[in-house]
Amino acid sequence: MTAPEAPADPALLRERALVALTAARARTRLLTTCVDDAELTAQHSPLMSPLVWDLAHIGNQEEQWLLRAVAGREAMRPEIDSVYDAFEHPRAERPTLPLLTPAESQRYAADVRGRVLDVLERTPLHGAGPLTDAAFAFGMIAQHEQQHDETMLITHQLRRGPAALTAPEPPPSKGLPTPEVLVPGGPFTMGTSTEPWALDNERPAHRRDVAAYWIDTTPVTCGAYLNFMADGGYTQSRWWDPAGWAHITEHGIRAPLFWREEGGQWLRRRFGVTEPVPVDEPVLHVSWYEADAYARWAGRRLPTEAEWEKAARHDPATGRSRRYPWGDADPTPAHANLGQRHLRPAPAGAYEAGESPYGVRQLIGDVWEWTASDFLPHPGFVAFPYREYSEVFFGPGHKVLRGGSFAVDQVACRGTFRNWDYPVRRQIFSGFRTARDASVEEGAR
Ligand code: AVJ
Ligand code: FE
Repeated sequence: MTAPEAPADPALLRERALVALTAARARTRLLTTCVDDAELTAQHSPLMSPLVWDLAHIGNQEEQWLLRAVAGREAMRPEIDSVYDAFEHPRAERPTLPLLTPAESQRYAADVRGRVLDVLERTPLHGAGPLTDAAFAFGMIAQHEQQHDETMLITHQLRRGPAALTAPEPPPSKGLPTPEVLVPGGPFTMGTSTEPWALDNERPAHRRDVAAYWIDTTPVTCGAYLNFMADGGYTQSRWWDPAGWAHITEHGIRAPLFWREEGGQWLRRRFGVTEPVPVDEPVLHVSWYEADAYARWAGRRLPTEAEWEKAARHDPATGRSRRYPWGDADPTPAHANLGQRHLRPAPAGAYEAGESPYGVRQLIGDVWEWTASDFLPHPGFVAFPYREYSEVFFGPGHKVLRGGSFAVDQVACRGTFRNWDYPVRRQIFSGFRTARDASVEEGAR
């Protein structure tokens, strides 16, 4: 059992697609107009593309899917496809490619969009196949642009120099709930077969059995993480996965990315501003190895992906899985810290309106949460519409992150949404929460 299907009314679907595409473009504009052309074409980190690559890649993917695949149009500029193919060129090499200039990239993306609005008006949105049914491809492309907007925000965070972005502070926490909650054992519905814009890796809905466990009600805070550091967390191999220990030793890692110690105080750099590490805020910019080591030090472990999703979606009163922790309604600013409305996570315990039936908070928004699980297909997975979105990344090399960060837009965030990355990665907006097995008596409650 999963959420009811969204209305198939074509006018409503068209409106929804238009709103999602327009919101994504407004954010892309913000991220690419707040710095000058030199900054757009510079490579701020070998981990990232120049911002101008993301901009034209957004336009190119939109052209390929909505103009060529959906509407059968000819390529507008066939010579650029290979330049903006993420698989042909690793990020480090992208500055050396014959990239469109900032003005050309902007014009190209705008040209594509103008034609897409026309295609959206004319395309039948049911009965013509899975790419266009329920406006799927339009939703997929809005999500793709928002995902690259998050990528560009990561580039902004890596960039040196004065702040180019500002945003209001997130809401405060009105007090911490109980630190952990018990989730009883038993099956629940994982994944979705009904959410119209869910991507291939979220499908299909299936039953998953989970033994009873305890899970943190909030993500792990910077304050708790500082205790791990003060207790020699980074200097004792016993807390670390051997590959993680080798990695931090080789790279001299002894704190989250963007942190530095000065006069006995820990500071962090956040979008061009250096500030004291906020103890009550979820820790950000840690790798899977750091999350895993912290959990072991705390006598706990990372939750599996299934445990995360059961805590976020299962409603014990009805036995069904919800779209979001708070229910089936789309997120509002009262539910979750999403959409780059704020440039940081909210303090632990905030967003009580976003709590799940089990009393778990901040599952959606704030920080991406590392899970214990490798990125693997759900049983019955079918790659759609292209293998390179998910399928080529399945396997033990990538760990799953769930829930989305403050930098994720709601169109690309659901209780079923899955993200993944290498376990060493930490420039992403990643944090975590911890879990532990319940005892046999607790599990029988
Ligand atoms: C799902 C976030 C891992 O950014 O590499 C963007 C999304 N896929 N363009 C990524 C994506 C193709 C992807 N992640
Ligand atoms: Fe992409």
